Amino acid sequence: MDQRTPDLPLYEALAGRVVALVDDGVLRVGMRAPSVRAFAAQHGVSLTTALQAYRLLEDRGVLAARPKSGFYVTSRTHTRRPPPAASQPPQRATQVSVSNPVFSVLAYATDPSYAPLGCAVPSAGLLAAERLDRHLARCARVHGRNYNVYADPHGDAELRGQISERALRLGHAVPPDGVLISNGCTEALNIALSVTTKPGDTVAIESPTYFGLLQVLEAHGLRALELPTDPTSGIDVAALDKALGARRVAACLLASSFSNPLGYRTDDARKAAITKVLTRHGVPLIEDDIYGDISFGADRPRPFAAISPKADIILCSSFSKTIAPGYRIGWLAANRRHDQILAAKFALSLSGAALPQKAMADFLTSGGYDAHLRRIRKLFADNIDRMRRTVDRSFPRDTRMTDPRGGFVLWLELPHGFDADALYARAIRERICFVPGSLFTASGGYRNCLRLSCSHDWSARIERSVERLGELADELLQ
Ligand SMILES: Cc1ncc(COP(=O)(O)O)c(C=O)c1O
Repeated sequence: MDQRTPDLPLYEALAGRVVALVDDGVLRVGMRAPSVRAFAAQHGVSLTTALQAYRLLEDRGVLAARPKSGFYVTSRTHTRRPPPAASQPPQRATQVSVSNPVFSVLAYATDPSYAPLGCAVPSAGLLAAERLDRHLARCARVHGRNYNVYADPHGDAELRGQISERALRLGHAVPPDGVLISNGCTEALNIALSVTTKPGDTVAIESPTYFGLLQVLEAHGLRALELPTDPTSGIDVAALDKALGARRVAACLLASSFSNPLGYRTDDARKAAITKVLTRHGVPLIEDDIYGDISFGADRPRPFAAISPKADIILCSSFSKTIAPGYRIGWLAANRRHDQILAAKFALSLSGAALPQKAMADFLTSGGYDAHLRRIRKLFADNIDRMRRTVDRSFPRDTRMTDPRGGFVLWLELPHGFDADALYARAIRERICFVPGSLFTASGGYRNCLRLSCSHDWSARIERSVERLGELADELLQ
């Protein structure tokens, strides 16, 4: 039996042994832990004690039980690094003006001669690119002519059927006719904002937030009201309530799950509470569920729309992070506003490109998406794990970092006064790209933060680049 600290209950000491295995990478995210029976036999303890240890690990978010299947590892790194503090953005709406720096970062982020820690885009090899290409080629060969037409503005019926079916699995009842296909999630967000706001209005958002969203707000002439956000639990509901009571807000735009850049997962109770507050203030919710399918936990989180089906919610999403950013296929579902979003889509682009939609529908119908998701979830969880370990041993002592529950980006907070823009300038000279924190706000904060993308296959080059960033950060702090 294991040695244990005398004042620690046995089950707690045993839980510590499991954590050590996870920390050492013996048990990795997504792996099945030994059965309770095997664990009990291995440590010479009763089944009750073994189960107590597993339940404790479950409470701590290290293991998750899957019905009839056992316990799986959901969290791996137990580094010394705490998460960043909850954000405290200014309590006023800011006119958004961010476009220019974003373009220069994007230019480096998409240049393969730079280490790929910038763009939140998986490499084509990780996505199902080849299979999808085969579907596209087949569709073009077999019935290409039929698709050289203005497609139904709603989008391909079979594709909408597939999206509707997947939504239903999450308890989100949206019929195929309630789904509207868009050009990626970006067009979906644009459409959602166009039916809920007018120039000069204020939109409440999480903080820090995805910089592309800030560009969209800027293009619509909107003001951003950034909300206090905790990197582990998400939006502060009381702060949201207070903010909405203090001014007119036209819409609230939040990540459904695994926000970019913080990667937190909002639990169902908090989602319900947020929707309740929004409903009370008469503010529609636009939710961005683009990372929802990349969950590291045992289950895939439900979007707000599934939890509060009667509320005024426009769900936006796409396959850009899981299958094909280049196909530009996204969608919206808005129970109350379907006619409005359809009219907006029609005005914006008449309809989407028909052939890629058909190929995507074929791909989904052929049934490989779930197996593909299982593979990439594990891969991204592993990448995040390795990135956290590398940051842990390479970055200055007081660096904090997130522990994302899904997606593939990591957010670092360095000591106050650190200049991530200066780090960026030096890193670019050494052909390492990341995104400085200042891009994730409209109100001038997060200069001491940065986002690292873990969306490419882990490699010696990536590891060395992260280590080098740590060295450069150290030098900047001297
Ligand atoms: C949170 C979030 N929403 C939307 C998008 C854009 O999605 P799409 O490529 O489908 O337009 C991104 C891309 O990085 C994102 O991170």
